[in-house]
Amino acid sequence: MTEPCAISFAEQDLDAIAAMAGTVVIFATPDGRLDRLGKRVNRLSKGAAQRVVDSDDFGDLSTGGMLSIGFPSGMAAERVVVFKAEKKPSGKAARKAGAALAKSAGKGAVNVLSGGRPDAAEMSYGFALRRYKFTDHKSDPKDEAAAVTFHVSNAEAVSAAAAPMAAMVEGVFFARDLTNEPANVLTTDDFAARLAAMQELGLEVEIFEEPQLAELGMRALLGVGLGSRSPTKMVVMRWSGGGDEAPLALIGKGVVFDTGGISIKPASGMESMTMDMGGAAVVSGVMRSLALRKARANVVGVVGLVENMPDGAAQRPGDVVRSMKGDTIEIINTDAEGRLVLADVMWYAQETFAPAAMIDFATLTGAILVALGHEKAGAFSNDDDLVENFMKSAAKEGEGVWRMPLSPGYAKLIESRIADVKNSGGRLAGSATAAEFLQRFVKDDMPWMHLDIAGVASQTGATTFAPGGASGWGVRSIDRLIRDQFEQDP
Ligand code: BES
Ligand code: MN
Ligand code: ZN
Repeated sequence: MTEPCAISFAEQDLDAIAAMAGTVVIFATPDGRLDRLGKRVNRLSKGAAQRVVDSDDFGDLSTGGMLSIGFPSGMAAERVVVFKAEKKPSGKAARKAGAALAKSAGKGAVNVLSGGRPDAAEMSYGFALRRYKFTDHKSDPKDEAAAVTFHVSNAEAVSAAAAPMAAMVEGVFFARDLTNEPANVLTTDDFAARLAAMQELGLEVEIFEEPQLAELGMRALLGVGLGSRSPTKMVVMRWSGGGDEAPLALIGKGVVFDTGGISIKPASGMESMTMDMGGAAVVSGVMRSLALRKARANVVGVVGLVENMPDGAAQRPGDVVRSMKGDTIEIINTDAEGRLVLADVMWYAQETFAPAAMIDFATLTGAILVALGHEKAGAFSNDDDLVENFMKSAAKEGEGVWRMPLSPGYAKLIESRIADVKNSGGRLAGSATAAEFLQRFVKDDMPWMHLDIAGVASQTGATTFAPGGASGWGVRSIDRLIRDQFEQDP
């Protein structure tokens, strides 16, 4: 796994500043005041820091911006960064500040002189999230992650506050690594093995192989994998940190590669379909975080792992399959495979765990990209409270999400002439017809939310908290939802 960069918290020491190597970060308020540590740097650098703060450039800088001084005299550091920040920024602003520092930091050590600032832990969180780089397949990975030290007035307390955030970072990195990994490496076997390894963290992990899936009647899921040499699997991960209450169920689409199958996709851009297991990656990342931070909640994560390939044995358009629920499905397009995976996995989760609520994550439709681009995921739900609470959590974490409609009119578009339902409703409202398909496999009265993450799971360019590539979108928002809505008081 890509290891988060080393972050430590040290007790501040004015006398140690002169000898600090690499980058030294100090803070100035928008009205131009340096704090105690900043003043010490100013004295050491013979007034250079104050000149920065008094400059027009600094005046023009918006809060969260920075200016730097190269090779300051009187200090061993190569660079002093003067960061413009409120004295008491919001957690969100602090995280952004940390991410901005990570983006600009070079290879050397980074010493952040936070002193008594209340935002050091949040800042370290943002720093760690942004300082991710997927180098597993680089023969010569350059740019070693720098060691970062936050110099604070209460190292023990800040460390303690940062610990659950570090667990989140690991969950996000786990999800990103899985999503970035190519399909010849992350086969269904490899994916399942990585999940099984999380038993060490105290998760219960159970792997279902094809014969067991057949026994359960999961022909919708199994149909998707008929053309692949890799065996179809379902993996159940359980974290039981709560009492005896019903668990929250998290369901993930884990299509390790989506060629489209016999309804094959065009060659251009097909390589991006290595991320079609992004939903399963988010679920896996959340489960990892919950275990690492020993969450006081009951959560079960269930992912369907399968590869969608064309082959003599592959499923055809026109085929009819019977789902575990018993509904028959006419396959109109073998490229609408994600909903077939989720239908059986969601049904299994409801039958087995009778969850309090169920949330599924899937890179489900290209149509959600047309609607929302890379900005926001689409949320479909039969439960106003669930989706509204989630949207609040996502807003706090700065992850984009937009509610989309469910409506019987959309369900009409997937009525089949020969079976109970068909797997594609055509071009119009493609994300909504997909969501309506899923809703057929949601039991009455089950609070449920479907997140179509096709646009947000992987990005071409860098975002605030991630470089280009997999984002791990959703891990932080769901963890926050669990903390705010599903977790027991200590
Ligand atoms: N995995 C794709 C959706 C997707 C598209 C994810 C772009 C990420 C980026 C999904 O399996 C798919 O192929 N959906 C089809 C459905 C259609 C055939 C009804 C689509 O969106 O075109
Ligand atoms: Mn597809
Ligand atoms: Zn797909």
